Amino acid sequence: MKNITILAIESSCDDTAAAILRNGKVLANIVSSQLDHEKYGGVIPELASRLHQQNIVRVVQAALQKAEISKEELNAVAFTQGPGLIGALLVGISFAKAFALGLGIPLITVHHMQAHILANFLSETPPQFPFLCLTVSGGHTQLVLVKDFVEMEILGQTIDDAVGEAFDKGAKMLGLPYPGGPMVDKWAKQGNSQAFRFPDAETNTFDFSFSGIKTSLLYLIQKSSKENPNFVAENMADLCASYQAQLIKMLLSRLKKAVKYTKVKDIAIAGGVSANSELRTRFVALCEENGWKAHIPAFEFCTDNAAMIGIAGHYKYLAGDFADMMAVPFTR
Ligand code: KG4
Ligand code: ZN
Repeated sequence: MKNITILAIESSCDDTAAAILRNGKVLANIVSSQLDHEKYGGVIPELASRLHQQNIVRVVQAALQKAEISKEELNAVAFTQGPGLIGALLVGISFAKAFALGLGIPLITVHHMQAHILANFLSETPPQFPFLCLTVSGGHTQLVLVKDFVEMEILGQTIDDAVGEAFDKGAKMLGLPYPGGPMVDKWAKQGNSQAFRFPDAETNTFDFSFSGIKTSLLYLIQKSSKENPNFVAENMADLCASYQAQLIKMLLSRLKKAVKYTKVKDIAIAGGVSANSELRTRFVALCEENGWKAHIPAFEFCTDNAAMIGIAGHYKYLAGDFADMMAVPFTR
């Protein structure tokens, strides 16, 4: 059987990433994270585009080198079409088109959120269709019924902020550097998750809302800092542990309802926030308690990466689902 070797490109936000997959196995997975945004406390879109442009050739070269293959061995180029920052996406798309055109090989468009979900197929024991996926990232929070590699039904989603945003903005209020999610995770390990109480939100059955809990953290900081100016510094670990625990509770309560409703037994998580250590532990425990099969991508495939674009591209290649040179990015 002929090998299927795919170059995958991801440039939707602030990570410039390239991967090489052969027959669905990762040969190289290179991610260059743009640290320059840290001093602004968030991603600056124009800066992200410029950095992608500076990095992309080097990142692709590194992926080819790591995989020990030549360009001529590639069968297709897969790239993130959206959603994402328009200028950032355009760099990846232009590069992918030029590369595919130069080599005379097909192009494959990939939906970034579908790719996060399909990162679960990089595992030795992938989920069985249909399965339910809790997709949690910096821009999205969704409960998705995954019917096959392309047909995915969104059962519920956030009506305001994504949970990754709630982590990042909460961290910012606490004076932690960007991106705050991993910092909250780290601090929470030494804290008491019962020390402070945060509210849940009233939403439709499978929907999420994180604006209320953010405001509640802000009010707690403002009120308590008036009484004690060192309140945040003295309570950092407890604040992180309590805030994180409530975010996770909100995620898992909706997930539980969706599992009951769909009656599926294969359950997955995906997206940057699925790198959170406490969420991973609680998710596995919940699945064990209920006799569900838990699926979590390996740590390196949770946050933005190109291997997930490659695996989504691999299945599109098998289905003969190719794009033409007119493919344009989408932002939402
Ligand atoms: O999937 P991703 O890399 O990019 C988007 O598609 O948005 O997700 C990024 C988000 C950020 O909000 C980041 O803070 C969060 O994932 N994140 C975490 C952790 N690692 C990344 N949140 C909580 N705990 C973590 N360990
Ligand atoms: Zn992402």
